[in-house]
Amino acid sequence: MIKKEKQIKSEIFSRIKELYKIRKGSFKFIKGKDAVLYAGRTYNEKELINLVDASLDFWLTAGKNAREFERRLAKFLGVKHCLLVNSGSSANLLAVSALTSPLLKGRRLRRGDEVITTACGFPTTLNPIIQNNLVPVFVDIDLGTYNIQADKIEKAISKKTKAIFIANTLGNPADLDKILLIAKKYKLWFIEDNCDSLGSKYRKKYTGTFGDISTCSFYPAHHITTGEGGAVLTNDPLLRRIVLSFRDWGRDCWCEPGYDNTCKKRFNQKFGDLPHGYDHKYVYSHIGYNLKITDLQAAVGLAQLEKLPGFIKARKRNFASLRQSLEKYQKYLLLPEPTKNSDPSWFGFPILVKKQAPFRRIDIVSYLEKNKIATRLLFGGNLIKQPAYKKAKYRVSGKLTNTDSVMDNLFWVGVYPGIDKTKLKYIEKIFNVFLMNFKQ
Ligand SMILES: Cc1ncc(COP(=O)(O)O)c(C=O)c1O
Repeated sequence: MIKKEKQIKSEIFSRIKELYKIRKGSFKFIKGKDAVLYAGRTYNEKELINLVDASLDFWLTAGKNAREFERRLAKFLGVKHCLLVNSGSSANLLAVSALTSPLLKGRRLRRGDEVITTACGFPTTLNPIIQNNLVPVFVDIDLGTYNIQADKIEKAISKKTKAIFIANTLGNPADLDKILLIAKKYKLWFIEDNCDSLGSKYRKKYTGTFGDISTCSFYPAHHITTGEGGAVLTNDPLLRRIVLSFRDWGRDCWCEPGYDNTCKKRFNQKFGDLPHGYDHKYVYSHIGYNLKITDLQAAVGLAQLEKLPGFIKARKRNFASLRQSLEKYQKYLLLPEPTKNSDPSWFGFPILVKKQAPFRRIDIVSYLEKNKIATRLLFGGNLIKQPAYKKAKYRVSGKLTNTDSVMDNLFWVGVYPGIDKTKLKYIEKIFNVFLMNFKQ
C-alpha cells in the first residue's frame, strides 16, 4: 500500500513539474505591455509540489509542516521561539495583546498605558495598540531612512509609557542601538514589526531578533510568502507561552491540533473557580483569538524559506542598480539611505519628490503607471489623517512634519526578486525618459 502510494505521489509530482514548465515557458515579458509589479510571489515547482503533498496528507490545520517551518525560521534568524499565525497583522495583534497578560504581573500593559510608535506606516502596526485600549504616542520619522527619529523618543516618554512598537520601514532597520538603550533605561517593552524587513541586518545581526517580540508577514508582497501568513518570534519562554495562548483561543493548554494530554495532567489540575480536574483543554487563561495557520500554508513556506538567501540577494542587487541609475537626479529626488550600521533586505525603493522639483509626485507616478510600472505610497502616509483614526485617542510628541512630507511627496517602486535584469533596465529607462525633460 505504502509503495503504491509513493508511486502515485511521484507520478503526481512529475506532472506538476511538467505543468510548471509549460506555464513558465509560455510567458515572455513585453515592455510597456506587461506590468512590472511592485512585489509578488516568486516560486517554482517546489512550492507547488509541497502544497499538493500537504493537501494529500489532508491534515489541514497546523501540523508537521508548521512545526518544521517554525523550527527553521527560528534557526534562520537565531531566535529561540517562533509561532506561525495567519497574517502579519495577526502577529502584531498577538505581540501587543501578549503584553497585556496578567502573567506579566507588574510589567503588563494596562488600559491607558502609552506605546511609542510612528504615524508613518502600515495601519496594523498601529491598530493593535488601539484595539488593546492603549494610547499610541506618535514620533516623527527621518526622511531618507523613513524610520522613527530615535533621538526624539526620550522626549515622548511619560509616566504612562510602557512600550515602543515600530516597523523597520520598507526593509530599512530602525536605529536599533538607540532604541534598545532607551528601552533599557526606561524599562520599556520593545516590539519590532519585521514584516517588511525579513533578512535585513543591523550590526550583522538579523532584524526581528532585537525586540522582546518581533513579527513577520508572509503576504505575497513580502520577502517570502505562504499566501496569507505571519509569525511571532521571541527568545522569552513566558512570552511564547502567552502568545500561544492568545493565538489558540486563549486556552491554557498547549496541545498541538489533533493531540490530547501533552501536559500529562489533563484531568488533574485546579484553575480559577473551576472544579478540580476540569479538562485542561477547556481552561482559558486569556481572552484570546484563533489566529492559527494551516499546514498547507506552512508547506509553501518551507519551500520559500530555502529560497530566502537568494531573494535577499536579488532585492539588494535591484536596489543598488536603481539607486545608481537615479543618483544623477538627486536635485529633484531624495533617494533612500540605509540606516547607519545596517544592511537592509529592501522591501521597496522609496523616492521622495523634493519641493524644488519642477514636477509633483502625481506627475512621475502617473508616468510610471502609464508605462506599466507599479508604484505604491508609503502605506497610510500620516495615519492620523486617515478617516479611521478621527476619533482614536492618541498623543503626538513634537511635530509630524516629515510624516506629512511622506504623505504628500513619497512613492516607491519594487525591487522584489521577480524583477529581473530586463525589467530593471526597463524601469531605469522609463525613469530616464521622464526625468530627462527637466534640467538637472
Ligand atoms: C510593516 C507592516 N506590518 C504589518 C503588515 C501586515 O501584514 P499582513 O498583510 O500579513 O497582515 C504589513 C503589510 O504589508 C506591513 O507592511
